[in-house]
Amino acid sequence: MKKLIAGNWKMNGSLVANEALVSAMLSGMGSEEPVADLALCVPAPYLAQLQHLLKGAKLALGAQDVSAHEQGAYTGEVSAAMLQDFGCRYAIVGHSERRQYHGETDALVATKAQRALAAGITPIVCVGETLAEREEGHTEEVVKRQLAAVIHTVAHCTSEIVVAYEPVWAIGTGKTASPEQAQHVHSVLRTQLAAATEHPERVRILYGGSMNASNAASLLSQPDIDGGLIGGASLKAPDFLSIAAAA
Ligand code: G3H
Repeated sequence: MKKLIAGNWKMNGSLVANEALVSAMLSGMGSEEPVADLALCVPAPYLAQLQHLLKGAKLALGAQDVSAHEQGAYTGEVSAAMLQDFGCRYAIVGHSERRQYHGETDALVATKAQRALAAGITPIVCVGETLAEREEGHTEEVVKRQLAAVIHTVAHCTSEIVVAYEPVWAIGTGKTASPEQAQHVHSVLRTQLAAATEHPERVRILYGGSMNASNAASLLSQPDIDGGLIGGASLKAPDFLSIAAAA
């Protein structure tokens, strides 16, 4: 299975900056087949721009969220059908920043994953423990609970999701989980997936949390780390491409 390196630009970018960044990425990639599948998850207002910039490129488009509702009176929400209109292949759901700042629950995240799948979009389901939860020894319980909610809701489509393990304490902090710490949690998630689907080998489990050009190779060489969800380092073309090359 090819690894997946997905950038998450979070709330960064502008029309001018995006064009420069994508153009640097595309020229850095050249014409060779990338070793990994690549994607950029961008703020919703820039989906149309990115759809245009990425036409024909080996860099897929993704969104950072999707509504749990199909359509209607939900001001500010963006539906899965709208993402599909702009050629989105992926949608991040349940990022810890949305769980933390927007009160997203496990049940809501699961419904979002289901909406994405129904529109033919692969949800990148984020799970991860806070520092307090890790220190209290609850890491496995937390990530399993978060993933279980999605498995329960999407049921027979479980093999179509991507999972991203993102320890909250490692996001944007410069503190990365060690390859061994990350591998341990990934193996727990793999075991959980194996009990839920006949095709656990189809599910890519990404690591996210201060992954950068220097630590990517050691993380990505772990047997159950199938790629990365990259925040800060996806805003710099050389860093993102170095991570992609390490996959
Ligand atoms: O979605 C990406 C993660 O939150 C990681 O962000 O690479 O800036 O730590 P980071």
